[in-house]
Amino acid sequence: MLSSLRTGVQGVWRAASRSIQTSSALQHDSLFVHRDTPQDNPDIPFEFSEANKKRVEALLGIYPEGHKRGAMIPLLDLAQRQNGGWLPISAMHKVAEILNLPRMRVYEVATFYTMFIRRPIGKYHIQVCTTTPCWLRGSDAILKALTEGTQCHVGGNSPCGKFSISEVECLGACVNAPMVQVNDDYYEDLSVDDAKEIVEKLKMDEKPKPGPRSGRFASEPLGGLTSLTDEPTGPGYGLQDGLKS
Ligand code: FES
Repeated sequence: MLSSLRTGVQGVWRAASRSIQTSSALQHDSLFVHRDTPQDNPDIPFEFSEANKKRVEALLGIYPEGHKRGAMIPLLDLAQRQNGGWLPISAMHKVAEILNLPRMRVYEVATFYTMFIRRPIGKYHIQVCTTTPCWLRGSDAILKALTEGTQCHVGGNSPCGKFSISEVECLGACVNAPMVQVNDDYYEDLSVDDAKEIVEKLKMDEKPKPGPRSGRFASEPLGGLTSLTDEPTGPGYGLQDGLKS
């Protein structure tokens, strides 16, 4: 009786240990917790510029009284843009103060959305999509060309401080895979040579031409249009005569 009880307990313990041991580690190139650093701590003051204060007023004006917290994401985005592309904790505190919210409400949003970058970042933030459609179209080779060209590993900054690279999930341009986003611009239908050329241009602070590199317009079919190629028919097309007046 005692031995079967012991065996049962051991079995439960083994099962529990196994599930703990086999749990996959959390992996992401962003840190979800804040750690004070010399560049990012609550003692560094943050204030919106005069021009951005006007934008803050305009953004708040969009939302009715009692629902001003709806402006949180636009305000965080504004703070991030003012701060060179990343969001320090003092800026989150400023947004909480403006919206009259507990700071935790702002932390929740800023840590949930990966578009908020919470570490000092390079002038050019290259986000490489490696989700299935981009991966099938060669995003691994694009990522390799970019990391080699910038000397920057995923989740880090280049030694020159100009580049940061993140590996991201689908950016919604799968039909133009593989693609990357650099700051606010999309570069699509990329080859490895395109990726290298983009890096070389950015190194010289020249702006590479955004959009598809395949020569097509936006996400048109590569082989030319296959539908909507005729003049559209006017109203009444196909109606029986009795219904036409
Ligand atoms: S999978 Fe890369 S943009 Fe959708």
